[in-house]
Amino acid sequence: MWGTEPEKGMPSRVRTRVAGLDDRLEGGIPKGFIVLVSGPAGSLKSSFVYRILHFEAVEKEAKGLYISMEQSAESLAMQVRSLGLDTKETESLRVVDLRELRKGFKGVEGGPDWLAALGTQLGRYKEEVGCDLVTIDSLNALYALTDFREPRRQIFDFFEVLRGIGATTFLVAETPREGDGFGPFQVEEFLSDGIVHLRMREMEVGLTTSVRRYIGVVKLRGVRHDLDYYPLLVDRGQFEIVGE
Ligand SMILES: Nc1ncnc2c1ncn2[C@@H]1O[C@H](COP(=O)(O)OP(=O)(O)OP(=O)(O)O)[C@@H](O)[C@H]1O
Ligand SMILES: [Mg+2]
Repeated sequence: MWGTEPEKGMPSRVRTRVAGLDDRLEGGIPKGFIVLVSGPAGSLKSSFVYRILHFEAVEKEAKGLYISMEQSAESLAMQVRSLGLDTKETESLRVVDLRELRKGFKGVEGGPDWLAALGTQLGRYKEEVGCDLVTIDSLNALYALTDFREPRRQIFDFFEVLRGIGATTFLVAETPREGDGFGPFQVEEFLSDGIVHLRMREMEVGLTTSVRRYIGVVKLRGVRHDLDYYPLLVDRGQFEIVGE
C-alpha cells in the first residue's frame, strides 16, 4: 500500500531510481513534493520521470497519472520500452496525451483556459480515481495553450491547486542547453519544493565533440544533499550516476 507512514522518523520518500542518487538524498524525494525536472531536448527528462512512476506502480501499486502534452502516449511508450520497461505491467499508471485531454475539454466555448482547466481536471481525477504521483510533461507545452494575462498570479494559483491535490508531482520544463533558469517563467523554481536539473555538456574527445549527460539536484526543501552534477549513465535501461 502506498502509505504516507514515516520511515525511521523521516518523511516517506519516492526513490528517483537512479543508482547512487537516492543515497545522496536521504533516500529520495519526500512524498507530496512538487519537483521541477528541467533540461534540454534529449536529456532524459521524460524517461527519468516515467521510470519513477513506473517503478512506484509496479512495486507499490502507487496510482500514477502522466500527462504527456507534447509526445503522444504511443511515442512515450515506445521510448520507455526501449529502456526495458514493460508498460503492460503498470495498470495503476495512466498516460494521458493531448489528444485525449482535448476530448475532455470539448465543448468549452472559445477553448479552455488550459492552466485552470487542467487544475480542475486533476482535482476531479484525484477525487474519482485517486493519484499518488502526477507528471505534467511539459510545462512549456501547457503554457503554449494558456492565455496569460497575469502569468505570476496564474502560475501561483496553479501551484496552489497542485498542492491541494497532495500528490508527488513532477513538472517537466524544457530549457536550452546553455543558459540560466529552470522554469519557463522562472517563478516555478521558487514555487517548487525541489529542482532536478538534467544537463548536457559538450566536450572534445580527440577529433570528436562528445555530449555527456549530467544530473544535479539544485534544490530539495528540508533535505541535506550536495549540489554536485554527476555524470548520468544509462546502461540497459538502468540509470546510474558516476560518483567520485
Ligand atoms: N535504450 C536506450 N538506452 C539509452 N538511451 C536511450 C535509449 N533509448 C533512447 N535513449 C535516449 O533517450 C533520449 C530521449 O529521452 P527522453 O525522451 O526521456 O528525453 P527528453 O529530455 O524527455 O527529450 P524531449 O526534450 O524531446 O522531450 C534519446 O534521444 C536517446 O538518446
Ligand atoms: Mg520528453
